Amino acid sequence: MARCLRVPKEQGESVRSALMDAGLLDLGHRIGRDGDHILIPVLCSSFDGYEAEQAVLAENERRITDYRELLPESMRESLPTSFDVIGDVVIVKLKDDVVKHKRKIGDAIGRTADARMVLLDTGVKGDMRVRDLTPIYGKGSTETVHRESGVSMAVDPATVYFNPRLATERLRIAALVEDGETVIDMFAGVAPFPLVICRHARPKAVYAIDMNPEAKRLMDINIKKGGCDRIFSILGDAREEIVKLPPADRVIMNLPQSAGDFLQDALRHMKKGGTVHLYSIHERSEAEREIGELVGRMHTMGLPCEINGIREMKSYSPTSAVYATDILRG
Ligand SMILES: C[S@@+](CC[C@H](N)C(=O)[O-])C[C@H]1O[C@@H](n2cnc3c(N)ncnc32)[C@H](O)[C@@H]1O
Repeated sequence: MARCLRVPKEQGESVRSALMDAGLLDLGHRIGRDGDHILIPVLCSSFDGYEAEQAVLAENERRITDYRELLPESMRESLPTSFDVIGDVVIVKLKDDVVKHKRKIGDAIGRTADARMVLLDTGVKGDMRVRDLTPIYGKGSTETVHRESGVSMAVDPATVYFNPRLATERLRIAALVEDGETVIDMFAGVAPFPLVICRHARPKAVYAIDMNPEAKRLMDINIKKGGCDRIFSILGDAREEIVKLPPADRVIMNLPQSAGDFLQDALRHMKKGGTVHLYSIHERSEAEREIGELVGRMHTMGLPCEINGIREMKSYSPTSAVYATDILRG
């Protein structure tokens, strides 16, 4: 049995689309027919003067997974083809021409992705790289639990930067970590790199630095929950904190807007033969030259090092990308 509205055939389409707009259409059942009426499955007890009743309606075998199918054809060209899922929260960016429909879009995404909340992302702000997020579906706290590579982590995308698309990169780094290494993550966020490393490798210690107090709070929750006694969270400026730490075998620098400015600080506090994983943004046509020049400047400062691989990690704009560069300390 399903709850439905009995509506005269000629009003069927307008009631169905109004229900859809209101997020009250039951997508788990098919529309039924009874003489001159159609039976529209609903999630409410009354709507637009119609009282809901119980009827036998077939279950919808095809589960709608593409949220765009729930939205008018005229909007589709401008709708994003992907969005980020962090735990049970979805983060989506919208083009200017469809922002006015943000509630409808949020509702369609929330229902097809089974999300608790959908947040509209209007950009990343300041040194702490925190996203500007507005709820467009659901309510409650933006804090959630994200699972990645066998690790559960508390994340609040409204207060600390977190990128679920780096899961493969975090596993790549973890696979490089040898037993007994000392690792420093200079820009750790909620500590996804340290947590994945400790789950898949056996370092001696991983120091996780971040200047955002919210990042430190969430790191501490994640370290405690994961029982990771080899991760040490540090609140402060990476440049000031790194000098207090033991020399590293490996330094992770995931601050693509300005990590290059901190490269000399990393190289000064590393063992010979250690590796820096530097993430930086470049125009595609300039990436190799700019990274080469950066490494060249380190030599002139008396910090010998060499590039051991540059890979384009993710697109940043139509002409630029975030590059992952492995740099060996000479
Ligand atoms: C792009 S996020 C990376 C977060 C994390 N590594 C991840 O993969 O999700 C950069 C982080 O660096 C932190 N940050 C920026 N400048 C910093 C500095 N000078 N010292 C320490 N942390 C800094 C920000 O607060 C932010 O959490």
